[in-house]
Amino acid sequence: MKDQYAVIGNPVEHSKSPWIHAKFAEQTGEPIEYGRILGPLNGFEREVKNFIASGGRGMNVTVPFKLEAHALADSLSPRAAAAGAVNTLTFGPDGVRGDNTDGVGLVRDIEANLGVSLKGARILLLGAGGAARGVVLPIFDRAPAALTIVNRTAAKAQHLVDQFAQNAADCGVRFWGGGADSAEAERYDVIVNATAGSLDAALPDCDDRAFGAGTLAYDMMYGAQPTVFMQHASRLGARASDGLGMLVEQAAESFFIWRGVRPDGGAVLRELRQTLAAKA
Ligand code: ATR
Repeated sequence: MKDQYAVIGNPVEHSKSPWIHAKFAEQTGEPIEYGRILGPLNGFEREVKNFIASGGRGMNVTVPFKLEAHALADSLSPRAAAAGAVNTLTFGPDGVRGDNTDGVGLVRDIEANLGVSLKGARILLLGAGGAARGVVLPIFDRAPAALTIVNRTAAKAQHLVDQFAQNAADCGVRFWGGGADSAEAERYDVIVNATAGSLDAALPDCDDRAFGAGTLAYDMMYGAQPTVFMQHASRLGARASDGLGMLVEQAAESFFIWRGVRPDGGAVLRELRQTLAAKA
């Protein structure tokens, strides 16, 4: 029998993770099977325990269970502890290990797939919720010159700045944040939309002067059409990307944690885009 993995979420039927991991297994020859589990909103822990009891080796965790997964884990990677959320569970003799691969997935998509180096870059992060928190340390690890966090609710951005100020100092990154007026009125190299705004077609408040030719505007969301944030960025001359590559690369990092083998995310991303374009 192959080693069993699954994604758990609610809803979960549209998750692309089973498709992505099946491609990784094919590519690497790793003997795994990867399914999807609809977690009851009040029964996440029970569902995880059932999966472990049936021999499951690991799980990806998606909305709305990432905080519960963080609470359930017996031990946490440093990046999961900093993010306060877990998207990857590994079941072993020492219990349940929680990790978070979202931030590394974002960074790898930007650097490896989109070819934009974060070293020395000026980066603007829009949003201060769970998605934003999870990417701060992986961004610092790439040695940018500066990171600004802008959020509709300024106090939440300020809170993240307080939480990660020491890490920024250790990495030599200029780091500040607050409301929309905290962004510098000049072009940023990379702007990441980590707000939930794209879900309801809302554009996060941000100075137009932050965008320009040479800016990569990255939306963590993806859909059949470019998001409002991507359209706005393109109109201002920036290069826009959706978050499909982040999805593939966070999966690649989870696969690596479980199997010790790193799949080629770029190849699977190209195939996924073709598949989605053919369906559209
Ligand atoms: P997630 O886990 O996806 O980050 P979250 O923790 O609820 O979800 O955070 C949502 C983020 O999107 C927050 O930064 C939120 O801003 P507030 O802190 O001011 O609530 C931001 N957000 C959601 N809808 C938005 C909108 N329409 N415009 C701008 N920001 C929005």
